[in-house]
Amino acid sequence: MEQKTIFSGIQPSGIITLGNYLGAMKQFVELQDEFNCFFCIVDQHAITVPQEPEKLRQNIRTLAAMYLAVGLDPNKVTLFIQSEVPAHIQLGWMMMCTSYVGELERMTQYKDKARDRGETIPGGLLVYPPLMAADILLYGTHMVPVGEDQKQHLELTRDLAERFNKRYGEVFVIPEVRIPKQGARVMSLVDPTKKMSKSDPNPGSFIAMLDDLKTVEKKIKRAQTDSDGIIRYDRENKPGVSNLMGILSACTGQTYEEIEQLYEGKGYGQFKGDVAKAVIETLAPIQERYNQLINSDELDQILDEGARKAQEAAAVMMEKVNKAIGFSRK
Ligand code: AMP
Ligand code: TRP
Repeated sequence: MEQKTIFSGIQPSGIITLGNYLGAMKQFVELQDEFNCFFCIVDQHAITVPQEPEKLRQNIRTLAAMYLAVGLDPNKVTLFIQSEVPAHIQLGWMMMCTSYVGELERMTQYKDKARDRGETIPGGLLVYPPLMAADILLYGTHMVPVGEDQKQHLELTRDLAERFNKRYGEVFVIPEVRIPKQGARVMSLVDPTKKMSKSDPNPGSFIAMLDDLKTVEKKIKRAQTDSDGIIRYDRENKPGVSNLMGILSACTGQTYEEIEQLYEGKGYGQFKGDVAKAVIETLAPIQERYNQLINSDELDQILDEGARKAQEAAAVMMEKVNKAIGFSRK
């Protein structure tokens, strides 16, 4: 039986949070033994809003090292930088031509990012989803592991693939989305009704993967909860406690029922202490590997090899697509 293909990407746009890890990267590691995996640093997506070149360079490197530090094995997966494989932009253009402005304007991420920009909405923000579709379709991807917020983009990807196939013949595999059960939506520690996000101006609201471990403990101990003192999973009425339970569960593998039983009659103090401990135990070995990798030549060799493997796979699809669309002379 042929191995199924997985593709996913993360933007190198600054701090990598615990939300990125629990919502996305952690499941990548779990998938690498079973599937043919492509993991991408989507730097072309990052420039949909202006980036400072030196910062961007650093962020790309940091993310690459983090992918490896969390446990991706370069002998099993193809890890690469999007801008080093030009086929993404080539197929991206075709996907832009396949999509309708109306459907792109309906994307909630676009609406959020375009809000309050008046006349200065970068065109790239609107055509970001067709580029994402190209990333995925380029490798004949069967499954895309992402956090919940990317579901709408995946639906669009499927629509575009089907539209293209109908117009030009069966070229693309229609990909499925894969959302993790635990950690799909890690919320802000300050306002647990909002997603944990690196772009939050209050650094107390998120845990960065490279946060000093003392800081991690402080942030968790200060996390917003409620006043009823009961550890029970209820996203609606107890968003703060539920969020911490989600984090604990994702770090330790304990179920919500197990956690509820374990902390019956116990206070938030002990609970938060244990959440902090679980997060620290998760982060410590990752940070150690990260520090070994970040300035190593090995990292560059892995990325060179990843780009080569991705280019090779992408070329196979581009030949098919070019033929289907009428770009080949023969
Ligand atoms: P971003 O940082 O928004 O580029 O997201 C990179 C990946 O991490 C995507 O798959 C997101 O869905 C996932 N992700 C980001 N923030 C969170 C969060 N707070 N909870 C769960 N997943 C997240
Ligand atoms: N849009 C994704 C995000 O913001 C990043 C991304 C780009 C991606 N291309 C992708 C994710 C392809 C999965 C597959 O998180």
